Amino acid sequence: MTKSELQAAVDTRRTFAIISHPDAGKTTITEQMLLFGGVVRQAGTVKARKSGNFAKSDWMEIEKKRGISVTSSVMQFDYDGKRINILDTPGHEDFSEDTYRTLMAVDSAIMVIDSAKGIEPQTKKLFQICKMRGIPIFTFMNKLDRDGREPLDLLNEVEEVLGIETYPMNWPIGMGKGLKGLYDRYNHRVELYHNEAHGETFLPLDADGKLDSSNELTKDSIYRDVLEEMELIEEAGNDFDEAKVAAGDMTPVFFGSALTNFGVETFLKTYLQYAPKPNAHKTRAGDIVQPTDDEFSGFVFKIQANMNPNHRDRIAFVRICSGEFDRGMDVFLQRTGKKMRLNNSTQFMADTRETVETAVAGDIVGLYDTGNFQIGDTIYAGKKAVQFEKLPQFTPELFMRVTAKNVMKQKSFHKGIDQLVQEGAVQLYTSYSTGDYILGAVGQLQFEVFKFRMQNEYNSEVVMEPLGSKTARWIDPEQLDEKMSSSRNLLVKDRSGAPLFLFENAFAERWFADKYPDVKLTAKL
Ligand code: G4P
Repeated sequence: MTKSELQAAVDTRRTFAIISHPDAGKTTITEQMLLFGGVVRQAGTVKARKSGNFAKSDWMEIEKKRGISVTSSVMQFDYDGKRINILDTPGHEDFSEDTYRTLMAVDSAIMVIDSAKGIEPQTKKLFQICKMRGIPIFTFMNKLDRDGREPLDLLNEVEEVLGIETYPMNWPIGMGKGLKGLYDRYNHRVELYHNEAHGETFLPLDADGKLDSSNELTKDSIYRDVLEEMELIEEAGNDFDEAKVAAGDMTPVFFGSALTNFGVETFLKTYLQYAPKPNAHKTRAGDIVQPTDDEFSGFVFKIQANMNPNHRDRIAFVRICSGEFDRGMDVFLQRTGKKMRLNNSTQFMADTRETVETAVAGDIVGLYDTGNFQIGDTIYAGKKAVQFEKLPQFTPELFMRVTAKNVMKQKSFHKGIDQLVQEGAVQLYTSYSTGDYILGAVGQLQFEVFKFRMQNEYNSEVVMEPLGSKTARWIDPEQLDEKMSSSRNLLVKDRSGAPLFLFENAFAERWFADKYPDVKLTAKL
């Protein structure tokens, strides 16, 4: 690719995540988008899900059983001259760590809110991560086909609870059974709800922002109410500010109904006009890597084993930050300095896989991994070493002792633990005194997923003994004396062999500090 070809390719990329509280409609809206992109032919709505024909973004067995989205997935499609990469984020709170890392690999986010419920806890958490990164956030107020809260009330809540300015791009004309359409400020038109029988879907507004007076809708009191509300918003609401949107200080708000595919395409089209192109990335040395820099670079934000039981494999997901990815190219793995050839690369449309030949900044490629990669690794081509900034890590708070139920099956037990731990969803520790395996996680559900996957993917039944919540504190090996271990703390090693104590509670930690005032403990290694 020449420089200008690379520039042109990068300019088409839009890489984003959809964030929401479970059940707000993320899967439904994702499917609608895939439908527009021609990637799926049938909307896999509620019916299809019930009959077992699941949404493409919901992969794993456990997701089917529990009806939750557990793993992040990546979907790519072309629409309106853009190449779109959607990174799916699990909505369940227990998967926050995986989700947080995924949010490091996107350039913008779509926040889906159930208009009957407003801001829910998980929306708030995920929003805060996006806000911290300063990426643009676009809001879709979903389920307009049901009676929900007043639009003004919803906007106020977004502003107050999330601390971001709002700008309504359109406004509902009625809701629930009385839904008539959307007053589209941005496109200067009214979008009618289910109007096939009457012909036109889009009705133009005149210079005063009104429909032609011959239109039926103008006689409806709901329409007149909307005009009044719009007037109020024009006067008292925020002005649209592109710079604020780009900085994540203002969110454009769209209303619609994902299930009935109302307002979704309008949303997607408008969103794509403002969604940013691939961002520049900072290195630990403080350099800025531009998407159109000649040399290839990227970072691993996720590793997953056995994404498809038919292909027993591990995949490292790489967000490309610069240059051109070509299948078979040689790169360096920054952490080890090792040179490797990238022959096996893949892009994802759920269970169908395509081999990637070329990809550019903003794209996500999956690399088959035989144990070389770790989450947060940088890979790069060229002479100059690159190391991107560290991905956030969270110290586990819940712990379990884990053993193989069948002692004869140690091999599959160890293999399973080894691979699942490398994915980073659970952390592995080893007891100093007994050599027992102890798993740590941010949430309870991660243990359940671990147990399920050990059984399903490695044929290893495990026994888990809860140790409850503990505080992990690392100790300088020089200062460690094994006698410091007592009934109130558990001395373990992490995967790199570094010693740490798992304290029962704050009291136990204080007791330790009083007893060994010279010993310095740290919360994170
Ligand atoms: P999620 O990925 O955010 O968890 O949500 P998902 O799309 O799975 O949607 C959750 C539920 O909300 C689904 O119904 C879905 O059909 C429904 N839904 C999504 N968008 C809309 C909408 O615009 N209007 C209405 N009325 N419903 C919507 P469910 O009953 O949980 O599915 P099921 O249990 O019947 O399979």
